[in-house]
Amino acid sequence: SLVAVLKGGLSAEREVSLVSGQECARALRDAGYDVIEVDAGPDLSARLVEIKPDVVFNALHGRWGEDGCVQGLLEWLRIPYTHSGVLASALAMDKQRSKEAYRAAGLPVVQSVIAARDEVGRRHVLPPPYVVKPNNEGSSVGVYIVQDGANTPPQLPDTMPAQVMVETYAPGRELTTAVMGDRALGVTDIITTGWYDYNAKYSVGGSRHEIPANIPADIAAACHDYALRAHRALGCRGLSRTDFRWDESRGLAGLILLETNTQPGMTPTSLAPEQAAHCGISFPELCRWIVEDASC
Ligand code: DAL
Ligand code: MG
Repeated sequence: SLVAVLKGGLSAEREVSLVSGQECARALRDAGYDVIEVDAGPDLSARLVEIKPDVVFNALHGRWGEDGCVQGLLEWLRIPYTHSGVLASALAMDKQRSKEAYRAAGLPVVQSVIAARDEVGRRHVLPPPYVVKPNNEGSSVGVYIVQDGANTPPQLPDTMPAQVMVETYAPGRELTTAVMGDRALGVTDIITTGWYDYNAKYSVGGSRHEIPANIPADIAAACHDYALRAHRALGCRGLSRTDFRWDESRGLAGLILLETNTQPGMTPTSLAPEQAAHCGISFPELCRWIVEDASC
């Protein structure tokens, strides 16, 4: 069958998606599919009508590709597509609203508020330390950390959205768990010397992944449980990846959920494919499973 792999797109994570898309397309070809790679631009709808794929493999990240927009277009065109649907995508991309869904599901999150960018630049809207981020971006794009004891509020550039999320800084280790349907794939500890920012995420040697994470069994079990419950609370489909912070000095109470990614990265340095590989699922097998799970 013919699979159209959507990659690139219009978001700040365009470059990441180009790599994810290329990797997935190659793997699907290896798995025996006919594959067309489509750079998702403003003519996407016309391109899909022309190509008539049996399935769309969505390898987009960020706004328009991961937030329900492209999913809505694919529903409209009646083309089965991979990963989460419209509502789950939109909900997961809205960090504040997804947090409300996690809270309702009894999952631990830290305090956050949505505030105007101008106000955030004038006064501390939460006591430091806190983090300021766009409510709807991935890959740590536009994330500002205000350290404990900082006197001045952050100077945010005009490129930041007019409304931003201000979140209490959660100290600790960076853990992540991918979910494949109804199965959690493990826990990775992401070890960086500094902040796990865009560069650390995508440069070779930018971070070290310890898999399985060297953490107590109850913390690993909680990561599995929380990632599955987050996936369900948002109504995700197919593959997702939930990110955590764990303050080990506080034991289980120190584990909090940061966010769920409905289109986790599929680059050579990405976490979900690495966890799948650790479970004995090769990258082509993972991509094949994702395609077979597609619907609309
Ligand atoms: N937002 C990036 C692609 C990730 O979560 O993997
Ligand atoms: Mg993300």
